Order: sequence, then C-alpha cells, then structure tokens
Amino acid sequence: MKFGFFDDVNKEYVINSPKTPYPWINYLGNQGFFSLISNTAGGYCFYKDARLRRITRYRYNNVPIDMGGRYFYINDNGTIWNPGWSPVKTELDEYECRHGMGYTIIKGKKNGLKAEVTFFVPQNYDGEVQQVVLTNDSSEAKSFSIFSLAEWCLWDAQDDCTNFQRNFSTGRVEIEGSTIYHVTEYRDRRNHYAFYTVNDTIDGYDTDRDSFFGSIYNGWADPQTVIADKPSNSFADGWSPIASHYKKVTLAPGESKTLIYILGYAENPQDKKFASEKPEGLLTRETWVLNKEKAYAMIEKYNTPEKVAAGLEELRNTWNSLLSILNVSTPDDKVDRMVNIWNQYQCMVTFNLSRSASYFESGIGRGMGFRDSNQDILGFVHQIPERARERLIDIASTQLSDGGCYHQYQPLTKKGNADIGGDFSDDPLWMILSVASYIKETGDWGILDADVPFDDDPNGKHKMLEHLDVSFYHIVNNLGPHGLPLAMRADWNDCINLSCFSDTPGESFQTYTNPKFAAEGGYSKVAESAFVATLFTYTGPAYVGILKHLGKDDEAAKAQAEIDKMKKNVMESAFDGDWFIRAYDANGEKMGSKECEEGKIFIEPQGFAVMSEIGKDQGADIKTLNSIDKYLNCEFGLVLNNPAFTKYYIQYGEISTYPGGYKENAGIFTHNNAWIICAEAYAGRGDKAFEYYSKIAPAFTEETSDIHKTEPYVYGQMIGGKDAKNFGQGKNSWLTGTAAWNMVAISQYILGVQPDFDGLRVDPSIPHEWDGFKATRKFRGATYNITIKNPDHVCKGVKSMTLDGKAIEGCIVPVCEGGVHEVEVVLG
Ligand code: GLC
Ligand code: GLC
Repeated sequence: MKFGFFDDVNKEYVINSPKTPYPWINYLGNQGFFSLISNTAGGYCFYKDARLRRITRYRYNNVPIDMGGRYFYINDNGTIWNPGWSPVKTELDEYECRHGMGYTIIKGKKNGLKAEVTFFVPQNYDGEVQQVVLTNDSSEAKSFSIFSLAEWCLWDAQDDCTNFQRNFSTGRVEIEGSTIYHVTEYRDRRNHYAFYTVNDTIDGYDTDRDSFFGSIYNGWADPQTVIADKPSNSFADGWSPIASHYKKVTLAPGESKTLIYILGYAENPQDKKFASEKPEGLLTRETWVLNKEKAYAMIEKYNTPEKVAAGLEELRNTWNSLLSILNVSTPDDKVDRMVNIWNQYQCMVTFNLSRSASYFESGIGRGMGFRDSNQDILGFVHQIPERARERLIDIASTQLSDGGCYHQYQPLTKKGNADIGGDFSDDPLWMILSVASYIKETGDWGILDADVPFDDDPNGKHKMLEHLDVSFYHIVNNLGPHGLPLAMRADWNDCINLSCFSDTPGESFQTYTNPKFAAEGGYSKVAESAFVATLFTYTGPAYVGILKHLGKDDEAAKAQAEIDKMKKNVMESAFDGDWFIRAYDANGEKMGSKECEEGKIFIEPQGFAVMSEIGKDQGADIKTLNSIDKYLNCEFGLVLNNPAFTKYYIQYGEISTYPGGYKENAGIFTHNNAWIICAEAYAGRGDKAFEYYSKIAPAFTEETSDIHKTEPYVYGQMIGGKDAKNFGQGKNSWLTGTAAWNMVAISQYILGVQPDFDGLRVDPSIPHEWDGFKATRKFRGATYNITIKNPDHVCKGVKSMTLDGKAIEGCIVPVCEGGVHEVEVVLG
C-alpha cells in the first residue's frame, strides 16, 4: 500500500494522505538553522546544535507521536481545521504534502477554502520562512480567521525537559507590532534570541501557552482561543512561552491572500545586546530592551511573495547544481530516483547532522560520532568537498596522539565528549577511509599537509598525514593472542561489548568498565574483533596508496607487510570453513562460528574480507557470499546474524538484550547490507548485488509502505528481521550510515563509477539483463558523459573503453583539464 508517489521532475515525494504509518518527515536548512517537519507540520527547529540551541519545543515519545510543531489553525465560521490535518484532525476535502529538496509544501482544503503553506529555510539564512496562501475557491465571500502557533524551547533541550523547578520560572518575551520575541535568559548569560513574525498587521496574539490552550486540560487539538475565535493577548511570564498570531481575513470568491511568517534566530555581540531606547508600542515587562537590528534585517529579507519566490528559486538552484555532479539514467527508474535525488539528499542530511536529531534521535544525547561522521563523508564528499575537508579537520582534531579517538564530539565546541570517552576499536580506520575518499574525489593531496592538532597536544604542530599514520598503527599496536585487533569497548557494532559482563541495570554497555579488566586498561586483552581485522585489510591499501604517492616507499612497504600479515592471521584464525567468524570473546571462545549455539554467522566481517580478497585463492570469497545468501538473506534484506540470540549472553554484551530480529540482534541492519552489496559487485555477481540493493533501497519499499512504515524516500537504520514479529518494519529513519554506504554501493560498486587517486575508475557490476546505462559525472573540474553498453549481457567486465573516441587501457579515465568528455565502455 502506498501513501503517495514520487514526482521525479520536481524532485519531490508527494504524500496524499495525512495518515501515514509513521510521521514522514523532511529536513529544512543545510547550514546553521535546521528544521524537522513532518507531513502534518510537526517537528522542531534548532541552530547548529540540537541540544544547546533548541528553538522550538518537541516532546519525545509522545502520544500521539507527532504533536507540537508549527501549526496554523483556521476557524471558518466554527469549522476548525489545520492545512496539515493535525492536530485538530478535522477531515479535509483535499490534502497534499510535498517534501522537496530543502522545502515542504502542505496544502489543505475545507469548505471551499484552500490553504497552501510553503516551509523552507533559505540559503545563508537563520530562519524558517512559512508562506501561507489562502484562496477562496467557493462562490461566496468568506470571512475566517487564522492563528499561528509555535512553542518556544528554553534553549537547552535537555534542561528544558528535566529542570522544571527552575525553567517554569524563567520564560520571557517581548512583543513589537506583529513580531513576538523569545528572550528567555537573554539579559544574563545568553546573547541569542528567537522571533516569530508575520508580514501584516495582526488582530491579536498570544505568548503564554496555557492562555492560548485555555486551560491546563486543553492542548494542541482543542485550543480554546481558536474555538472561541478570540485570542487572549496574553503576555508570558515564566511557564511556557509561545508565539501565536491572530489574523482575520475576508476573501471574495476566487480571491487569494498571502501571509509570510518567519521563525528566526539571531545572535548579538556582547557589546550590542541591548537597544538604548524603548520604542513606542513595545510590550515588555523588562527595564532593558533587546537590540532587534538583526531580526529587522532578517524580516526585511523575506517580507514579500517576490522575495520568497526568489529565495525558493535560489534554494532550488543550489540543489539542482549539487545534484548535477552525479546523474544516471538506468533501465530502472527506482534506481535513478535514489541515485539522482533521494540518496544524495539523505547524504547531505547525515553529513550535517550525524546521528543527532531525527524522530528517533532526540538531539540531546549524542553529538557527532567519530566513526559516523567519517563514514558520512563517503557519500557526501562529491557534493561540497570544501565542507568535507573542514569536517575532516574537525574530526581529526579530536583524535589522540596514539591514534585513539573520542567516540563523539559536540558540534558547537568541537571538543571530544569525555562522558563517552574512546577505545572503540574501529574508530581510527574510518578516518583513513574518509581522508582517502576526499583525496580521490578532489586530488587535493595538500590536505595531508594541513595542520591538525591532537586533542592531547592542542598546541603541537601536527599534520593530517600523522593522523593517518597513528590511525593505522593504532590497530597494529593493539593486537590480541591471534594477531587480530583487540575488540576493546566495541567495534562498528556498538552492541558487541566483549569486556563488559554487565549484570547491573543501567550500566552503559559501551562505557562500563568491568573491574576484572580495570588493571588491563579497561578492556580485555584477549577479546579480538575479526571485523576490525577485515576493515583494516580493506582500508589499509588506501593508506599504502597515499604513502606511495608521497614517495614514502619504505613506509608503504612496511604498512603493506602489516596488511599481508593481518590477512594471514585472519585466514589462519578467523576463517570458519564457509565464512569468517565475528570475534574471539574475553574467554578466548569463538563468536559467530559454526561451533556456537546461536549467532553462528555475522554479516560484518564478510564483505570487507571478500573485498580484501582474503583466502580468495582458496575460494573463501564465493563460499562466504554463498553462506550469506543461505543464512542471512530474507524477503526484506540481510539480517545481521543468524540464528538470533534468544538468551542473554553476558560475555557478548548489549547485542543479546534485544528480542530476536531487532537492531543488532538479527535485525536487517541496512548499513552493513551495503558492504555485502559492494562485495557481491566486487566479486562480479551483479545480479546478487542488485537483488540485495533492491530489497532495502527505499524507493523499492514504496509499494509496501504499510509494512515498512517509515519514509519510502530515505533509508532507516534497520528493518525488522525474519525473527521479529514486525518482520519488514522500518525504524530509525534518516540518520544512518546506510545513506552514505548505499550511495557508495550503488554508484561506485554496482554502477561502478568510482573516483580513484589517479582518475575515475569505471567498472560496473550490474544485473545481466541490463542493456547498459548512462551516467554524467563531474570530477575534478571536468564533466564525463559515460555510456555503458552491455551487448553480451554480462554482469561485469570491461571489454573496451574509449575517452573522446580514443581507446584506453584498463578502466580508469585519466583526469582531464576541464571540458566535457565522452566515455564509452563496452562490457563483455
Ligand atoms: C530549589 C532547590 C533547593 C534550593 C532552592 C532555592 O528548590 O531544590 O535546593 O534551596 O531551590 O535555591
Ligand atoms: C548505530 C551507530 C553506529 C553503529 C551502529 C551499529 O547506527 O550510530 O555508530 O556503528 O549503530 O551498532
């Protein structure tokens, strides 16, 4: 069952029922100001940091789930409705929500009155513009009223939902004309404020929530001021400040009226916080006056429909240009819409927000993740490489001089998060992968020479290259008894915690140090991760390639020897006959082996082992891929492990706490499905690669949205696995490494257009029935129009290749100096 359709021409998903199986959201803003907006206009906004600069309030885990946001209420002679249906839930005569690239348009119609609201955050602007177009489609004149409503968050989202004994007494506002200012704590220690305005006179307002709702027994669905069609003109004094404008409108038949609302954020320098005079008509209970110059300028910028249209046009142009860097035309329109539009769009969102703020991430828990942000770069780097470069330097600056890493950092302070600490065994390797992908995309070898400090030596002179060195050797210097990397607190799988042995409620599996390992530095020196071993052998060659390019041949040879040794160790101690084991636990027992009672096979090490060609000469790659197909493949994707754990295995940690089929315990964890897609493509099995791709790529789940539940245009972190009661049900949509990895899987492995140090590699691995496909790729200043022909209907194998008509040896297009170039590839 579908709840809408893709409009590929406009790059929109069009939702035609407000009753989606879960709120289907969009993100507005891609620089400083961000908004989340659902198909019924629920959600919230913040500036840069979802915890420390939350602008509007949101109640997590609410019932109903999606309550609170920015709502417009219309009272049309006693019929009260919202353009997005919720929260009043009056049945609409027409409803539509269009989620586009950085904007959302919600249209509702009731009794001949149409309301179309366009929400967007303009480029280089710290505010959400909401343009409301009201049209009288009936044959009679209509008089009605419209109320706006936004509820302020008292800035620190964590404090806002916990520290009521204080924060119920701090709220402050100012009102000037049609603008309501939120100035809680501004006088004292904050230099930022928010405002909500409309570009017209108003007939009343409210700034105190309980006055607007009418009593503490009323809420979003039944605000008494709307029902009574009479604002209270309330002035918030503590409690919960809100901003609501009241406007009466009369429209002749066929007539339209446009109102432009802006929800904005601004900061003032310390010496310019206050205005010297109190303007006439300003409503305040303070002796001081906010300096509103910045707000005035922001309001001025979008106070006419022409200016709004220009802002939207600029946003559209920005996205059209971002999406023109990679564009494909394949025999499958679902692939095209994923690659050309939605997967790239999601990569921007994950790059911006890491795992911080979504409908599944509260924005108050985690900042930016070290491993997460590095992986996000893989799918984003072609869009705005300069921002990727900046991010790489920020992330690397939180690294320690021995190669260890803070697992997370706060975007505002850019400092490592000491509460979580480090010792996640995979973290350093992702840094090698992301820096290599940046160089492969841009050819900017200069980044290796950029000054990047270590967290424990902030004033020392260190170069980015040193960060790669210590990352690589952090693995080499921390091996266990089988010569495999120590598992430490966790590896990519946060829920495999081999040193935890936790039996006490509330202990964090990732940070709790079991006393038995305290003397050993906090984690077992026996537990080893076969996954990190294969990630090392997969990533290591990029590091070697970098050293060779720099002419550091001895260092390259030394690193290569470590990679070769690791491959040997993996083959000797971690190949189980038909697949690779997952780990050795702290008791020295195998995890993810035939010998185990449950969890005999895990997905994570297999893909990187295959792509590292570990044991390829003995057929280990194909045996492994076949085992995945046999044990992990199911209708909706590949489960993480099999059989699912049915008991609590204290020696494994968090993984076995989940009911079978969810999350890391045999859920379909889509992130690592991509690694198998890459591996199948790498091994030349394009049909299998595509089968797995099409099981999880969102556009392919559209028809079963009633089962899948989450948005059909973006990946979620997981889908209920075959052991789950809710088999096939998506969860944790939007913020997941799946976005970047599937971008890599489809564009670089299946379609095979892969940036390399010395040029653009073109080596597809596609379904054999495809006749071919076309791709346009902008790369290092030139544009390549690539045509792939598949006359023999093979999956993989470049038979011949030409660049502007001239034959090329191999399958790497050399870097051209600008211009447009034709690349023709014949498979066979
Ligand atoms: C709050 C605190 C209390 C303190 C009082 C006055 O009630 O809980 O400890 O004495 O404020 O600051
Ligand atoms: C979550 C985390 C990610 C981790 C994964 C597997 O998605 O954000 O860092 O690798 O879970 O545990």
